[in-house]
Amino acid sequence: MHSDETLDPKDWEAMRQLGHRMVDDMVSFLQDVRERPVWQPIPEKIQQQFKKPLPKDPQDPEQVYQEFQKNIQPYPMGNIHPRFWGWVIGTGTPMGAMSEMLAATINSNSGGGDHIANYVETQVLDWLKEIFAFPQKSSGLLVNGGSMANLVGLTVARNSMVDFNLRKEGLHSDSQPMLVYASSEAHSSIQKAIELLGLGSDSLRLIPVNKSFEIDILALEKTMRLDRHNGNTPFCIVGNAGTVNTGAIDNLNELADICQRENLWYHVDGAFGAWSILSSEYSSQLKGMERADSLAFDLHKWMYMPYDIGCILVKDEEKHRNSFSLTPGYLEHAKRGVAGGEHWFSEYGVELSRNFKSLKAWISIKEHGMNKYARQIQKNINQAKYLSQRIEASSELEQLAPTSLNIVCFRYTAKTLDEEKLNELNREILLQLHENGIAVPSYATLEDKYALRVSITNHRTLQVDLDLFVEEVLRLGRHFTSKI
Ligand SMILES: Cc1ncc(COP(=O)(O)O)c(C=O)c1O
Repeated sequence: MHSDETLDPKDWEAMRQLGHRMVDDMVSFLQDVRERPVWQPIPEKIQQQFKKPLPKDPQDPEQVYQEFQKNIQPYPMGNIHPRFWGWVIGTGTPMGAMSEMLAATINSNSGGGDHIANYVETQVLDWLKEIFAFPQKSSGLLVNGGSMANLVGLTVARNSMVDFNLRKEGLHSDSQPMLVYASSEAHSSIQKAIELLGLGSDSLRLIPVNKSFEIDILALEKTMRLDRHNGNTPFCIVGNAGTVNTGAIDNLNELADICQRENLWYHVDGAFGAWSILSSEYSSQLKGMERADSLAFDLHKWMYMPYDIGCILVKDEEKHRNSFSLTPGYLEHAKRGVAGGEHWFSEYGVELSRNFKSLKAWISIKEHGMNKYARQIQKNINQAKYLSQRIEASSELEQLAPTSLNIVCFRYTAKTLDEEKLNELNREILLQLHENGIAVPSYATLEDKYALRVSITNHRTLQVDLDLFVEEVLRLGRHFTSKI
């Protein structure tokens, strides 16, 4: 009865018209973003819309789009807005959004085979290797973010640093515990990866940091000596190229020296900070990052590409492939045809089916060129410095960590308030900033002090946005202090 039914539109022309309107609406949505609140709460009535039952019958695409416009479009996270500086979340670009439409239309599976998506990804990875001074013979994989990149890098580390076939035999219950070292400021995705790898979070040694939140190298060496003495096996050090809380950069060269001397795997988490290699001011601080065995970083943070896209680079292609490759008959590579192709990306990571995320990177890098990205990154670094200067200039504001890269941690302060009240006050300031749609910083707790944390991976931010933010923090701070 329905044998000729497909999911294509009956009326292609109507679909074209609807698509045109969607593009128009989305371009306007981005163009006018500054006029809207950064964030707004989702009214109860709207929340209820998302509890409606499973649709059984078709709805007119026009009607579905109207529902999107009414119930979805007005309530985004807000990271497309010039005053969103929470966590480490990128802004996206108009062309990046269009690229997603192009990629989804082509709808290739980038897991393997001989088709253009894999050539695009190979080229993007070659460009990334060049940027981060990795040899062209290194391997790489685009993944959905820094967490997955860390997991892939640490998997290769774990599998390569043992003298038995770990993939086949699993972790030996009677072998010495395998330890990973990172600073106490390392991102939680490192611990998550270690847990997923079956090593247990006890095998992650979190080393204290100095006043600048960088790993304490002497403490690291001392802990490692003691661990070896107690029969444990250190196998990996994770260096931070930009910590999530404060943007601190570990001494990456010294960590590389230790790894070389002690025969350890060197993994660097450069989720956002790795990109400061494009800043002449920071590139020397990142020296040693190119010596990593594996380097994780994102393109949806400081390269402003739409979610999601991250990357792992691994120096030793064979070790990388040996950690993931599995080719049963149904995935055998052919010499010709669609099942051909030199390089199947599914052999370098967890996922077999993979979307065509390389397209937005390829298009974006061509659209802007690396010099423009370098200028944007330097602009965000300068904006963080400007914000610090405004904080320094005010007796009511206190910086809680040295400003590194694009991150500023500070609080409103008043002499009359003790630490507990200051934490409470700054928490309230943060919530008011969010709830009134003024700005979205996030938060960090530094030496028990609650900090407003501004992390600028936003190409839309202007100086006026930072001025407005400072004035609003002062206004809210004074207002709530007078009420306590
Ligand atoms: C230093 C660091 N590593 C890893 C991650 C995780 O990245 P993703 O959120 O892309 O998984 C983050 C996220 O902010 C980060 O800042």
